Amino acid sequence: IRTRVAIIGAGPAGLLLSHLLDAAGIPSVVIDRRSREEIEQTIRAGILEQGTVDLLVGSGASDRVREEAHRHDGIELRFDGGGHRFDFPALCGRSVFLYPQHEVLKDLIAARVAAGQDLRFGVTALSVEGAETARPHVFATGDDGDLLDIQAEFVVGADGSHSVARQAVSPMGGHFREYPFAWFGILCDAPPSNDVLIYSNSDNGFALISQRSDAVQRMYFQCDPDAAPDAWSEQQIWDELQSRVPGTTLNEGTIFQRDILRFRSYVAHEMRRGRVVLIGDAAHTVPPTGAKGMNLAIADVVLLQRALRALLLENDERPLDAYADVASRRIWKAQHFSWWMTSMLHVAPDASEFDRRRQLGELRMVTESEAGRRYLAEAYTGWPFETEL
Ligand code: DHB
Repeated sequence: IRTRVAIIGAGPAGLLLSHLLDAAGIPSVVIDRRSREEIEQTIRAGILEQGTVDLLVGSGASDRVREEAHRHDGIELRFDGGGHRFDFPALCGRSVFLYPQHEVLKDLIAARVAAGQDLRFGVTALSVEGAETARPHVFATGDDGDLLDIQAEFVVGADGSHSVARQAVSPMGGHFREYPFAWFGILCDAPPSNDVLIYSNSDNGFALISQRSDAVQRMYFQCDPDAAPDAWSEQQIWDELQSRVPGTTLNEGTIFQRDILRFRSYVAHEMRRGRVVLIGDAAHTVPPTGAKGMNLAIADVVLLQRALRALLLENDERPLDAYADVASRRIWKAQHFSWWMTSMLHVAPDASEFDRRRQLGELRMVTESEAGRRYLAEAYTGWPFETEL
């Protein structure tokens, strides 16, 4: 196969990139190891920044997000038995939108299929070769065992935290940090318990009361990374969740899905080698607190599509040469924010009494100060996209 841009991974980053390249007249091939059904059904995060929504709507990638996403004008932080409201429009003039990632994926896939995109599911990348030549390749294998050689002018690794492309770009790995906890996530049939999401710090650990619709809710509580989701009865799960939001009563209902989310912070040492670039989780992973993962992947795409247009349409390499430096500024801000929200809200298993009281002091500083609330609001709703490149 020959194409201009080979994209490994049909997640939000890979699909949106192919959509934006197509709009500029640049053809691409997108491959993913998973099936379309698996991609469209895997439950992931739920919060889109304003800039993400504007881009999805403005580029024609999703009309549905405009009609179906729920605008959230704030969050509630709970600690020490009390709730504190952060009013995002008043603090920073922006909001966020609740619209599940797998719905974004359904829209992006439908748009690519309608446009006649060469989009191949069940195709596993094996390696990326020739990064430092003008003709990089992706070697891949289909579900039938056939070998594929995709020759392109540029290769993009949008293949997630177990990226195959990373070997060609950042063979020495990256900067990373692990956390001594995970999230136990559930989906349940119940009405919302609050008008906005609740991020709660309690003596028993963290809980996040999120939402999906009027009838389905998403909730998480901090757990041991080795916890077995099926070992918990529904009653135990509800008792655990209720104990972590003292002062609030959760609406309970049948739990129809449960999963464990492991926490990791990661940034690859290198994001580009020659004509191969890593974007999204292939280049960086954040812990979920604060919902930056997908939004950050989309910010990478905004920059990279600009660099690829300059390279492939105008033979101008300068934006591409600037890509990794410019992208990494936002990446490290998002790394800091995700780490900060995580460490401010979770209770580490080895936390001392000092650590615990210091953490409550931090939560008071942030919530009692308008500057503190604004700091959180600006980061949570998303910084403006970078304009240089
Ligand atoms: C959700 C996940 C997050 O990590 C977050 O910060 C907010 C919401 C969610 O899945 O709904």
